[in-house]
Amino acid sequence: MSDLKKIKDELLSKLKSKLTLSEINQIKSDLFGKNGLVSSQFKKIGVIAESERKKFASELNIIKDELQDLINSKINEIENSEIREKLQKEKIDITLPERPFVRGKIHPVSQTIDEISSIFSEIGFSVEEGPDVESEYNNFTALNTPDNHPARDMHDTFYLDEKKERLLRTHTSPVQIRTMLKDKPPFKIIAPGRTYRSDSDQTHSPMFHQVEGLHIDKNINMGHLKGCLNYFIKEFFELDKIKMRFRPSHFPFTEPSAEVDIGYEMKDGKIVIGEGDQWLEILGCGMVHPNVLKNVKVDPTKFQGYAFGIGIDRLAMLKYGINDLRAFFDCDYRWLNHFGFDPLDVPTNYRGLSR
Ligand code: PHE
Repeated sequence: MSDLKKIKDELLSKLKSKLTLSEINQIKSDLFGKNGLVSSQFKKIGVIAESERKKFASELNIIKDELQDLINSKINEIENSEIREKLQKEKIDITLPERPFVRGKIHPVSQTIDEISSIFSEIGFSVEEGPDVESEYNNFTALNTPDNHPARDMHDTFYLDEKKERLLRTHTSPVQIRTMLKDKPPFKIIAPGRTYRSDSDQTHSPMFHQVEGLHIDKNINMGHLKGCLNYFIKEFFELDKIKMRFRPSHFPFTEPSAEVDIGYEMKDGKIVIGEGDQWLEILGCGMVHPNVLKNVKVDPTKFQGYAFGIGIDRLAMLKYGINDLRAFFDCDYRWLNHFGFDPLDVPTNYRGLSR
């Protein structure tokens, strides 16, 4: 019986020290687990002399119950003290004054992107995205702008390595390439996002925003492009009629190419869109060049379509009467409080996010 006494003495001395729940559970399994000290005593019952057996078994059972009681009450004690400690720590001081509640504002550029996305999604465009860091291939070569093409210089590119293989995209047009490489035609997408050029003054910032549009299908022509842009501009500026003109232009990735101006006039020092005889350029567009389609394995004899790139910041400035582009990116809270949008105030022409 001395084995059992030893086990009990050892347990009693262990129980004297402060134990965690996992330590006491370990002790419990050392004793009562499959090969535990107490469990192995039970295996002895079968092998000891018959005269001893009854006494041994009954003493063993008594000690087993005793040990279990000791362990269970220790577990109880530990659990209670953990709960007490937790309650102490998590006590809430309801006398503290509340924190001031600051509701953020939505930046006019984010608001404008949401508006543009919802207008185009109503006429069947889905929204695509591409990374700010692009390959030289997607940004230029695939867009029919080979090395040494003068258009590359015009873009004042930020290159990210000596070999000029990685760059900050100079326009959202590389998303055209990504989209067409990923899927099969038809395509009808817009792609809003950040773009970069090494240029900075009152009307240019090195980071600005564009939204790309691409519609490729069988029998898409310039009339569709004109109709689509006309619809968009009227919806965006919430006007029934708009003055808009297509001016011939050049982009390597479209043929023919055009820039689109909208009519405006100055009234009491403010720009009024849609009237007057002044013109303001807001986007570039054209019919996607057959070489671009070939580069993305789309057969230009079967599929054609149009693309456009709209300057988002300029649209936001026009719609919301903001006259300095740089203020967009100054992170001045007073400016944001004035020009930003309350996230809970839904604008009248807001149709819900399509993304
Ligand atoms: N990517 C051109 C730019 O940044 C705009 C554009 C897009 C023109 C698509 C034609 C077609 O100026």
